[in-house]
Amino acid sequence: MKVLNYGSLNVDHTYSVQHIVVGGETLSSYEMHDYCGGKGLNQSVALAKAGVDVWHAGIIGNDGEMLLDACKEAGVHTEFIRQLDVHGGHTIIQVDEKGQNCIILYGGTNQMQTEAFADEVLSHFEAGDYLVLQNEINLLGYIIDRAYERGMKIIMNPSPYNESLDACDLSKVSLFLVNEIEAAQITGNQDADHALDALHEKFPEAAFVLTLGSDGAWYYDGKQKVFQDIFPVQAVDTTAAGDTFTGFFISKLAEGADIPDALRTAAKASSIAVTREGAVPSIPTKEEVLLSLKEEG
Ligand code: RIB
Repeated sequence: MKVLNYGSLNVDHTYSVQHIVVGGETLSSYEMHDYCGGKGLNQSVALAKAGVDVWHAGIIGNDGEMLLDACKEAGVHTEFIRQLDVHGGHTIIQVDEKGQNCIILYGGTNQMQTEAFADEVLSHFEAGDYLVLQNEINLLGYIIDRAYERGMKIIMNPSPYNESLDACDLSKVSLFLVNEIEAAQITGNQDADHALDALHEKFPEAAFVLTLGSDGAWYYDGKQKVFQDIFPVQAVDTTAAGDTFTGFFISKLAEGADIPDALRTAAKASSIAVTREGAVPSIPTKEEVLLSLKEEG
């Protein structure tokens, strides 16, 4: 079984600020870094660091060498990453003193996927292989349909949620990883207490991981319901915490681990990520996660 992550790669221009800027305000930042990021890249790096043999597919721009290098450094296979001589995907991220962030996203080359490229990439994968997706690239509907025809297991983190997802046949997705807001957007049901039931009702064949920030995470597949609390830490930067959770959770599924183990490992990995700055640089290795879990007893 192989894992393909078809997704975004971004340069995150990250500014440390006392508070998130408000409308009409001009605010000086006290630090600035360019980090490798993008939900796709973060999840590929998390998968690789968790020990998975992962192929990343996507398109970088003329500023994207650092993104390619980050993949190689983490051990992500890069033969399905193309480069175009135009602006790549990037973000402007503010991180405040509590570690909270806000993000402006520019799609750039992430929004330039073509059907021909998707066909070429998918032709290297077969039934039973995993396809991991987020919502920072174009052509998701096409990629889902073609991967489903091939019998791939489709795992979707529909983030950031927007209307482009309404054009996708999400009934072909086997596993969703969503937060509370995305759950409400997908189901149209604002009732957070019943989000899992609403998701299951809409997609009865799928399994769900619902992350609730400091309130932990739930797994539900219509039969098994499992809760995982957070590991409390002092947050420095929450960027990529969700992506780290996603990568480590999928790695455990690929290993054949049970759901409580997968959730616990993912929650621990993500708790380490929030104690570090940046997206890709904050993602821990499997060894770090296992050691930290051992220390928990
Ligand atoms: O999930 C975090 C990521 O979202 C950042 O790395 C940024 O690139 C945005 O895509």
